[in-house]
Amino acid sequence: MNEVLALARPEIRALVPAAAHVNGIPSAVRLHANENPWADEADVSPTALNRYFDGQPQALVEALAAHYGTSPRNVLVTRGSDEAIDLIVRAFCRAGQDRILVCTPTFGMYRFSAEVQGADVVAVPLSPDFRLDAGLLLARWTPEAKVVFLCSPNNPTGNALEPEAVERVLAALAGRAIVAIDEAYLEFSGQPGFLGSLPRHPGLVILRTLSKAHGLAGARCGAAIAAPALIELLGRIMPPYALPGPTVAAALDALRPERLARMRTRIEAIVGERMRLAAALAALPGVARVWPSEGNFLLVEFRDAARALGASAEDGLLLREFPRQPKLEASLRITIGSRAENDRLLAALERA
Ligand SMILES: Cc1ncc(COP(=O)(O)O)c(C=O)c1O
Repeated sequence: MNEVLALARPEIRALVPAAAHVNGIPSAVRLHANENPWADEADVSPTALNRYFDGQPQALVEALAAHYGTSPRNVLVTRGSDEAIDLIVRAFCRAGQDRILVCTPTFGMYRFSAEVQGADVVAVPLSPDFRLDAGLLLARWTPEAKVVFLCSPNNPTGNALEPEAVERVLAALAGRAIVAIDEAYLEFSGQPGFLGSLPRHPGLVILRTLSKAHGLAGARCGAAIAAPALIELLGRIMPPYALPGPTVAAALDALRPERLARMRTRIEAIVGERMRLAAALAALPGVARVWPSEGNFLLVEFRDAARALGASAEDGLLLREFPRQPKLEASLRITIGSRAENDRLLAALERA
């Protein structure tokens, strides 16, 4: 057996995928799926909502593969990268036996999915300046840690992981663990990402999403990109009609060339605002440090974070705090908004 599949839960390897009965002859009368025969007159969706939608719509799989520069065989469309994270944990971690390994501080969904699954979490700290310490990660890794989550650029610290450190982890854990690299914010960075490492690492999964740069957070559409055997395994545990038709239509539309051109302009605007906001925040007396960021957010250490949070809230501005996160108690994560929103935040913090 493929050594990567051998890491998966035996019952998932043995699972017969739930049958989806949507791929038929387009002109056929569908009396096989217990749907309602009428689309309501008020149904304004681009796909008839009375019908179940294809689990992995080929057109979207192909469009995402073309967009990310890979083959359709390497792509699984998911309901946001959150679902991909959950699928990976469920496919590889046996409750009460297996673990995931995360590099903290990082995105909370890895831990959440593991806890739901009953899998322990090994937290390996990033270095004081939030770099990946490959030596420490490998020293803390044990065979029970079936999945290692890396996030680049990392949420909430904003930095991209160094390719040498990531490659060292990938090489050392080849055939021993799945390494999932979450690239939710890659479009805001100047980095190429780790898709190029895929042919050399059958246990690597890259997570991408349309939620951030493409502005489709509400549509819930992401992609897991990996070797075909891994894609087939993860797809096996998705419910048969998982992707809503309107989501698929919205995602396909977002991948049209005009929309992609608009997306690039908006990314430029966000990156420009990120630089402007970082400089303006760093000049405020209440700010102790603004961390460099390659995402659409800034991690900012305040002299009095509660006061900054309170002043922002008074003006109706929500910021993210980390009261229980070691090393981040005095920090807030600020999403880059529009120019007007960022100015409003600066004014609120100046008053504070
Ligand atoms: C690092 C990271 N990964 C994944 C996600 C979830 O993205 P999605 O909307 O695709 O589920 C987020 C959302 O904030 C994130 O910060």
